[in-house]
Amino acid sequence: MTSASAPGKIILFGEHAVVYGQPALAVPVSEVHADVEVSTESGEGIWISAPDIDLYAELGTLPPDQPIAAAVRRTLPAVLKTGDLTHPTFRRLTIKVTSSIPRASGLGSGTAVSVAVVRALAAHFHYPISDEEVSSFAYEVDKVHHGTPSGIDNTVIAFARPLFFVRGAPPETFRVGRPLTILIGDTGKPAPTRDAVADVRRLWEADKEKWEGVFADVGEIGRHARKAMETGETARLGRLMDENHDLLRQMTVSSDELERLVAGARAAGAMGAKLSGGGRGGNMIALATRERAPRVSDALHAAGAKNVIITTIG
Ligand code: PMV
Repeated sequence: MTSASAPGKIILFGEHAVVYGQPALAVPVSEVHADVEVSTESGEGIWISAPDIDLYAELGTLPPDQPIAAAVRRTLPAVLKTGDLTHPTFRRLTIKVTSSIPRASGLGSGTAVSVAVVRALAAHFHYPISDEEVSSFAYEVDKVHHGTPSGIDNTVIAFARPLFFVRGAPPETFRVGRPLTILIGDTGKPAPTRDAVADVRRLWEADKEKWEGVFADVGEIGRHARKAMETGETARLGRLMDENHDLLRQMTVSSDELERLVAGARAAGAMGAKLSGGGRGGNMIALATRERAPRVSDALHAAGAKNVIITTIG
């Protein structure tokens, strides 16, 4: 048996603007992860087992847009010495997927499953795979169900390092100067990223000059934030999060639930807070000192958070 796992992720700065070429910052969240086990036994077929979603099926019976099937179909021909999945050396293969990452909430659940599937299959067939290749396979799967994602999710999850990401450019990882405590508050409301991205596109189409100005401001915040993370200027980072959140509100991607959590975190002494990911629901993040984090966590629960993850970056 071979296994692999992949972390969740959060976007710290630059969501939505990243779609329009601005930089964004994202970090892996190892407190939650997707895990994949691959085993070969006697028998036939490629079986996918995902108990979390009640799935147990032979690969051939799954539609092209089933994300686990898409990841397996993309990866197997590349990692097998033979591209022929009916080859006699190829015995029954079972691919078991489990995940502790909440779904549709901006934590990269689907992408983490793809990355773990790719890594587990590559390891099982002794195929030495680079992070770039893992990332590009996962991107192809993300495209199946997200349309035209910027690529930030697959990149940060495949590289599993803090990332300064510009669409189409080689990913830049960077060092975090001083550890940061981030609280991730879940509104519990599933958030279809695709809809939020489409709505922002409509705004942009109606007034490109205005929105490109807003996106450029977000990009500037991202560049300052990278510097503040590298140099350990935590208070400054918090202010930049607040500024980024204001611009996301202008893009209409916040929601009442997110606003309550952001306000609750700030009132409890967080240094900054913002929504994270597509918005309209899903998760928000707050920056706090280690000592203050429990109080901020209580405040998030009191403001309606269904779940709070406390993670350390760097
Ligand atoms: O909802 P998430 O965390 O998958 O993030 C989406 C990020 C966007 O910038 C809104 C879209 C994208 O493709 O980058």
